[in-house]
Amino acid sequence: MISKQEAFPKGFLWGGATAANQIEGGFNEGNKGLNIADVLPGGKERLQILMSAGFNFEINREKYTYPNHEAIDFYHRYKEDIALFAEMGFKVFRMSIAWTRIFPNGDESESNEEGLAYYDRVFDELLKYGIEPVVTISHYEMPLHLVKEYGGWRSRQVVSFFEKYVNVILLRYKDKVKYWMTFNEINGALKMPIMSMGFSPKNEESRYQETFQAFHHQFVASAIAVKACKEMIPEAKIGCMILFAPVYPFDSNPENILYALKEEELFNYFCGDVHVRGEYPAFIKPFFKEKNIELEIQDGDLDLIKQGTVDYIGLSYYMSRTDKKGKSEEEKSQGNIVGGVKNPFLNASDWGWEIDPVGLRISLNKLYGRYQIPLFVVENGLGAHDQLESDGSIHDEYRIDYLRDHVRAMGEAIEDGVELMGYTSWGCIDLVSMSTGEMSKRYGYIYVDKNDDGSGTLERRKKNSFHWYKKVIESNGEVL
Ligand code: BG6
Repeated sequence: MISKQEAFPKGFLWGGATAANQIEGGFNEGNKGLNIADVLPGGKERLQILMSAGFNFEINREKYTYPNHEAIDFYHRYKEDIALFAEMGFKVFRMSIAWTRIFPNGDESESNEEGLAYYDRVFDELLKYGIEPVVTISHYEMPLHLVKEYGGWRSRQVVSFFEKYVNVILLRYKDKVKYWMTFNEINGALKMPIMSMGFSPKNEESRYQETFQAFHHQFVASAIAVKACKEMIPEAKIGCMILFAPVYPFDSNPENILYALKEEELFNYFCGDVHVRGEYPAFIKPFFKEKNIELEIQDGDLDLIKQGTVDYIGLSYYMSRTDKKGKSEEEKSQGNIVGGVKNPFLNASDWGWEIDPVGLRISLNKLYGRYQIPLFVVENGLGAHDQLESDGSIHDEYRIDYLRDHVRAMGEAIEDGVELMGYTSWGCIDLVSMSTGEMSKRYGYIYVDKNDDGSGTLERRKKNSFHWYKKVIESNGEVL
């Protein structure tokens, strides 16, 4: 089915999104140091293993496999992959820089030239085709040394290490990269701090104190990055990145409506409020009091946060969350990673993530209504099992349906008055799943011949969605 959508503005940034640790491989090449993703085992239990008490952050090949070590070998195959992105007509490509390619341990005084030169090559290749890189500075790739020796973002010292890293990459790539983002899904740490903050809470009592102190350090670090970016690359745009899942009250019971509102403030808006408005929101003060949180804030921090506000909000959108106060264990939804209860109006993906394109329109309206700064959907997509046919084709019509509905929802949000800069769907080429380590949870327009057990030729193939997305971009979202 083809339908018309005329909402997308000229210059809309169509493209795809990835993260270094999920595509590059070459985990020990080019003097790269180990990062948190390098000790993530394969399999559905990977995050539980990483967070379990006594986990020593060592690689143990006898016990586990490590899919991120080779990933899809973008490290060596980036030219071939970028040529395919260009064929689809990408205007932008979202990728991240692995901090450990630039500072292998995170706390060195000198940067690693081999790592810097690698990203020069990748950016040059993109620019050759007129594709603008959109770079996430930190996407679940914290140097392992900073995790083990400093306790991750709980340590104030990490702010200075990050500052150094940021200054090096901004200076080096200032002529090549005009779109930047600080921390991937910064608010996700409220559910699970290990990947972005590099620690697991010591215990439930200390959980909030540790997490919010680490947030404070990240807010200061983000403000430093924003200021440096504006000074060094005045024409650049630098944003934050938020995992946005609108919270729906389960029913019209005012108690549930209030509950949903409070959950949404904390999870969806807290980080955005600090990044965009440059100050801690009023609603967080009673929360801090209730949880006995006392932040260590140094002189000048709050001024810095005020000065370092972002130009745009990058968001990931995969699902909404329906929730109610006092839900029982049986009522809790299975699979929806943001939690809540099952929404009877929604279907779910094979991994239990509830599919809700209208929720994307709602999210964009909510965010724009609150902040009035440009939005950028930098992640969205369907993780699904794909079937490689004997003739090499992949008929992923279910993915096209999912993406079409979400693109249409973005068009409707634009018609609602939302200022939307672009859309980079997640995993434009199949990659290693963050939450499960599977290759079989595929998001791509491009199929990569690699299986969960690590076997496969790594050959790339175009799925049906590849041809569909090419037309979407060509028509600026008119032909869906
Ligand atoms: C986002 C992350 O949470 O969701 C990505 O920024 C991740 O790194 C994506 O890959 C999809 O999640 P998953 O678990 O299906 O890979």
